[in-house]
Amino acid sequence: MLHNSSERYGTVAMALHWVVAALFLALYVSVYYRQWFTEPKTEANWSALQLHLSFGVTMAVFVVLRVLYKLWSQPPQEVPGTPLEHRAAKSVHWTLYAVMIIMPITGYLGTGADTEFFGLFDITQFRHTGMYETVVQGWLGLTWEQFEPPIDFVHKQGGAYFVWVLIGVHVSAALFHHFVRKDNTLRRMLPVSLK
Ligand code: HEM
Ligand code: HEM
Repeated sequence: MLHNSSERYGTVAMALHWVVAALFLALYVSVYYRQWFTEPKTEANWSALQLHLSFGVTMAVFVVLRVLYKLWSQPPQEVPGTPLEHRAAKSVHWTLYAVMIIMPITGYLGTGADTEFFGLFDITQFRHTGMYETVVQGWLGLTWEQFEPPIDFVHKQGGAYFVWVLIGVHVSAALFHHFVRKDNTLRRMLPVSLK
């Protein structure tokens, strides 16, 4: 089934959900591998950063597709629960969408390196684009030293303290539904059938 039914998510929504989840994992592994296990200015350090940037740009593409599909499609019916539980689930889902949009944008705006997209082609860092000159220096009248720190703060502090906790809450809720409530929540987001 390609699209969502009233009972479960379809192939498109599931594919987008799980590709994005895998990209989050890859983004975390690459950036913390760089920070914890490599020495500055080594080839491994640079390659790990480049992986983070390439996965991040890939994420941006999938998020655009995902938002467009979300706008176009109907989600399945809510699984039984209290109004408070439904509101909590919705708030977490909308916050996850906000994170999916804000993280790639702040990453790109604040980076100090061009992205060598999986070694295939280069994407110029924002600081070296005409858009930066026109919008940031021209319209906003900001220097890089004024513009970059708040962007960096959102990306790094958000990534280090907020994003993974939010994903943890979401994953815990999915596991709670599956193992404690024993309802359909996780099964209808999975392409394979689970007992
Ligand atoms: C959803 C997408 C993304 C997520 C979840 C994410 C997450 C993170 C995290 C967790 C960190 C480390 C924070 C810390 O210092 O503790 C980080 C650092 C960084 N990110 Fe991202 N990121 C994403 C996309 C991007 C993109 C698209 C770019 C640029 C094209 C980018 C560029 C960077 C850079 C330059 C750093 C600093 C690396 C370092 O200090 O080692 N990120 N990101
Ligand atoms: C192991 C990791 C994950 C598991 C087990 C999981 C599980 C689920 C399940 C079971 C649903 C369906 C909820 C329902 O029908 O009400 C769902 C929906 C959702 N998940 Fe995840 N998820 C995971 C990772 C992620 C990640 C990393 C994100 C990204 C930011 C994410 C974002 C969402 C969103 C926004 C929805 C709402 C449906 C939609 O609009 O696409 N999930 N997830």
